[in-house]
Amino acid sequence: MGALRSTRDLGLTPDYEGKVRDMFDLGDSFLIVTTDRISAFDVIMNDVVPGRGVVLNVMSLAWYDHFADLVPNHLITADASKFPAPFNTHAAALGGRSMLVKKADRFPVECVVRGYIAGSGWKSYGQDGTICGHQLPEGLALAQKLPQALFTPSTKEDEGHDENIPFSTVVEMIGQEQADKLQKLSLELYRQGSDFAEPFGVILADTKFEFGMIEGKITLIDEVLTPDSSRFWPASEHKAGQEPPSWDKQILRNYLETLDWDHEPPAPSIPQEILDQTFRRYHEVLEILFPLEAQKWQAFL
Ligand SMILES: Nc1ncnc2c1ncn2[C@@H]1O[C@H](COP(=O)(O)OP(=O)(O)O)[C@@H](O)[C@H]1O
Ligand SMILES: [Mg+2]
Repeated sequence: MGALRSTRDLGLTPDYEGKVRDMFDLGDSFLIVTTDRISAFDVIMNDVVPGRGVVLNVMSLAWYDHFADLVPNHLITADASKFPAPFNTHAAALGGRSMLVKKADRFPVECVVRGYIAGSGWKSYGQDGTICGHQLPEGLALAQKLPQALFTPSTKEDEGHDENIPFSTVVEMIGQEQADKLQKLSLELYRQGSDFAEPFGVILADTKFEFGMIEGKITLIDEVLTPDSSRFWPASEHKAGQEPPSWDKQILRNYLETLDWDHEPPAPSIPQEILDQTFRRYHEVLEILFPLEAQKWQAFL
């Protein structure tokens, strides 16, 4: 398995470098490369988790496929040998972690859906009993299932933290018709995603989708139902009052909490064992939900 920290290590120059993804602007399309970078407390670590980018990318691909009848997505191809030059010459390094996608006109909204109460939703509920303007019953416990799944959108901030907004603000931003459509679609994606995961003993607690317009149609873009965009909980460890260990970077966060580090760069170095455990956690949920896809991309993992 090859690790990839940055596409610069391949002699390429990305047009945009996110915390995790390197993006190349190819006119009507983007090449999105999911690297093995990992951030915690909003700081990118110096160490990478080899293969993490492949897990994230493969998981999105699997979900695009799963939802193909419900919503179009931005994917052109994930076959690196079909990427335009010079990217096709790096097929071994980019394969499994990259996708060529159609460029979308992005909606400036993070379409969050919550079926359980945790994270910023729990915080907001604690303050005033609501999440994004939804009035909730009294006495809910942390990690409890909500009476119904809620659409709890947030702004998409390039800098700083996304901010929860009421549905009325989404309407002001993009109009009633599109806002209604994004809400309906997000809730349906959440419902079908959690129905799919449930028999595997996986709870999809909450997640975030992004949409854009491509060729006049509302289209699913970005990552979909990955451990970075969602909370996946083992059903066997779920009980209200306590947040179960999600299939994500909790192991890394826990390790960092044992250090005397102020969450400002530079990041401390991380023991190999913690990096390995973190990878196993990401890989595990892919294996549980999409064993065939995991096998198909095994050479890159
Ligand atoms: N098809 C697309 N068209 C335009 N923008 C996209 C498309 N797919 C994903 N994006 C954007 O690309 C970025 C992905 O990079 P990422 O490293 O995840 O950045 P971020 O820190 O914003 O999450 C996101 O900002 C996402 O909105
Ligand atoms: Mg992102």
